[in-house]
Amino acid sequence: MRLLKTPALFCLAVAWSLTVSAQQGGAIAEPVDEAGYPPLLVQTCFSCHGPGGQSQSPAIPSIAGLPRDYLLNVLAAYRYGGRFGTIMDRIMGAYDKPQVEIMADYFSRQPYRVNKQDAKWQLVDRGRQLHRRYCRECHGDGLQPSNKGAPLLIGGWMDYLRWTIRDYLIGINQGDEEMSRQLARLLRNHGEPGLEALIHYYGKGRP
Ligand code: HEC
Ligand code: HEC
Repeated sequence: MRLLKTPALFCLAVAWSLTVSAQQGGAIAEPVDEAGYPPLLVQTCFSCHGPGGQSQSPAIPSIAGLPRDYLLNVLAAYRYGGRFGTIMDRIMGAYDKPQVEIMADYFSRQPYRVNKQDAKWQLVDRGRQLHRRYCRECHGDGLQPSNKGAPLLIGGWMDYLRWTIRDYLIGINQGDEEMSRQLARLLRNHGEPGLEALIHYYGKGRP
């Protein structure tokens, strides 16, 4: 299990559950705070996902600027099945639908930003070609999202992307059927080096 291999994440999880118990019994967040601050409800997400949803940790995805419907789907999937989580499955059990809508509204309105990390520039051109051939149709062209509702991948943390793609490949994440076909084709035609090139292209964050 991933969680056991990442002690930092485990500590975050413990810290998070302590914060939550401290807050239980308090008022539930309002959709919009009068003073213009982010709703209290989404501030609990900042401890892991970073301020405004811009994650500072390679193990935790940035969630700022993801499409609203994608956020709704993925948060429901953590709770009801279809998406593997080391921690999000347990977290989402604590919230009802109106609360999840507040989260999706808030994070989808934050600006999407590229995370800064070390990616191998030598792999970027190859990765871009593979993205165009196998993934662009749904995951967008550079920083321009497609109309298919799938999230942008460019600028995502490479560790997170590697794990998440594995989770789709081994079937503990249920993705789009067409995506499974494209991932299988990518691996058949280009193997692990193809997948790595793709991940470095996303990691570099250059459209
Ligand atoms: C204790 C740390 C932690 C907290 C708190 C946390 N998350 Fe997460 N989140 C993660 C991790 C780690 C992942 C990757 C999936 C996993 O391993 O569970 C993730 C994944 C996600 C994803 C999927 C992102 C994608 O690119 O598909 C969304 C959306 C998300 N979290 C939203 C939230 C929201 C909303 C909150 C606040 C209620 C929240 N998270 C609180 C750690 C956390
Ligand atoms: C036919 C459309 C389609 C194609 C082609 C496609 N995807 Fe996806 N992808 C999706 C959809 C839809 C989701 C959201 C699925 C979900 O809710 O779990 C997704 C989710 C993902 C995620 C999770 C994102 C996150 O933030 O957690 C990754 C990683 C991913 N795809 C990688 C790829 C790669 C790599 C390729 C190319 C080899 C690819 N996809 C091709 C539709 C597609």
